[in-house]
Amino acid sequence: SSLTIPPPAALLRPLEVPNRYLFGPGPSNVPPRVLAAGGRPIIGHLHPEMYEIMNDIKKGIQYIFQTENNMTISMSGSGHAAMECAVFNTVEPGESVLVAVNGIWGERVAEIAERMGANVHRMVKTPGQLFSNTEIEQAMAKHKPVLFFLTHGESSAGLCHPMDGIGDICQKHNCLFLVDTVASMGAAPIFMDSQKIDILYTGSQKALNSPPGTAPISFNERACDKMFNRKTKPVSYLLDMTHLSNYWGCDGQTVRVTLQCGALRHNGESWRQHKELAAYLYKGLEDLGLTLFIRDKDLRLPSVTTIAIPKGYNWRELLVYMMKNHNMEMTGGLGPSIGMVMRIGLMGYNCKKSNADMALHALADALKNCKKSKV
Ligand code: GLV
Repeated sequence: SSLTIPPPAALLRPLEVPNRYLFGPGPSNVPPRVLAAGGRPIIGHLHPEMYEIMNDIKKGIQYIFQTENNMTISMSGSGHAAMECAVFNTVEPGESVLVAVNGIWGERVAEIAERMGANVHRMVKTPGQLFSNTEIEQAMAKHKPVLFFLTHGESSAGLCHPMDGIGDICQKHNCLFLVDTVASMGAAPIFMDSQKIDILYTGSQKALNSPPGTAPISFNERACDKMFNRKTKPVSYLLDMTHLSNYWGCDGQTVRVTLQCGALRHNGESWRQHKELAAYLYKGLEDLGLTLFIRDKDLRLPSVTTIAIPKGYNWRELLVYMMKNHNMEMTGGLGPSIGMVMRIGLMGYNCKKSNADMALHALADALKNCKKSKV
């Protein structure tokens, strides 16, 4: 038979990708040396050099997570892949899961756990609000979950949730502590081992200076005990840690899979830079007459800053104006924070004073020129 579908014209022209200032909640711009790394030759997933690269990546993740966990890998996929991996492997159908929902990420985990047949209990607050350790412990005593989920960097609201003491509560109630750090890793301090976090994951495309598509994740011994002593198989084959741990050599057998490296070189330095730049940005935003959505500055997520939508403006118009006239991405809210906030992300390679100045300039210009809907 003959070809009835002609080759598409798009495949016959070179790929064009614009240069943009990615000052939203991610993906973020990455340094030239990381872009260049993507142009290195392909090697086989069983070649010895690949094992070395994977071991280096594993050590890098152990460093940024501050953990000695052997069961530490980088998954192919977005942060959602790690989220599903954590839930699918540690929970069996019918088991109780407790989820703190104060933005989009808790909502997503609750849905994922429900889809796999867990018995999900949500603790719900409006975006940006905190859960006290007492509230968490009370809910744990009531629902007896096998897993408790909390977001460290709630990017939809701009909140960085305190972590201290929660791991102890989870241990006391024989519950695993799962933490999402997709938007905060590299920008705000986190200490997996000393904060007694049992499962921790992040994404590559935020403060870690990498393209989207990989998701570092780590499980401690408590988490491994639970996930490798289950009665049923996890619902996903692709995300089954019995296979993934084998690919990564975490079970002492073979290693075989290919992934790229992040580019964060020093935690303490990176945390300090993000905090200082965020403080500079807050001051500039307040000078423009804008109101920060998270009032307590110690609870603000340094990588993603949320501002209350200024009165009398249409937030979509402001964002479209900045993209059109400044080639710059900022975003609105996400999930429950839509219509409540606008979000500015300055993270990783973008965490520079010159970028904050550019973002403030673009906002000032947008505020001046999108006045027509002002009341
Ligand atoms: C993440 O993807 C976000 O929009 O916060």
